[in-house]
Amino acid sequence: MSNDEITRRRLLQLGLALPPLAGLAGYADLLGAPALAATPAIMDADDDPTPALTEGPYFTPESPKRRSILPAGAGGTRLTLSGRVLNTAGRPIANALVDFWQANARGVYDNSGYRFRGHQFTDSRGRYTLFTVVPGLYPGRTKHIHVKVQAPRQPVLTTQLFFPGASGNASDGIFDPDCLVQRWRVSNGRRLATFDFVLDV
Ligand SMILES: [Fe+2]
Repeated sequence: MSNDEITRRRLLQLGLALPPLAGLAGYADLLGAPALAATPAIMDADDDPTPALTEGPYFTPESPKRRSILPAGAGGTRLTLSGRVLNTAGRPIANALVDFWQANARGVYDNSGYRFRGHQFTDSRGRYTLFTVVPGLYPGRTKHIHVKVQAPRQPVLTTQLFFPGASGNASDGIFDPDCLVQRWRVSNGRRLATFDFVLDV
């Protein structure tokens, strides 16, 4: 039996079942053992590809091309999310597709139209900007924004973004701290945040 298998069995005995890919460092912490030091490559978070997360049931293809997915008259706290699409060497990827979809401020998806859905392409410096609202709580989930990101002629990354301090993060089975938006702050009544996607290309 491998050490990993022993660790998993021990966790199951403790009632701490974790997903198989939760990471050995996490297991070591839970068991009170010293965590292995990360290699220099792993310590440089900018170079780690953004994790893929489940698409969920509500993606609609062929969304409108637009940077604002905020419908006229929509309620909610305005959110401007901006950032870049990079490769694992940290180089910006121009003309990358970034396709967002999310629930409105009340946690409801528009599955008959394209409210709170839209795609855009990064500029020559790999930048995108999204104008929207902070999504509401969809039953059973923490607050999140869905996104597909694709460098030209490369595979699609499907993932989700999360918000620091959201009450549902701890209990959400999909939540991944590597997908937390950064620089989460308020300015003039508007929420601002950044996120750089790193594609394994
Ligand atoms: Fe969702």
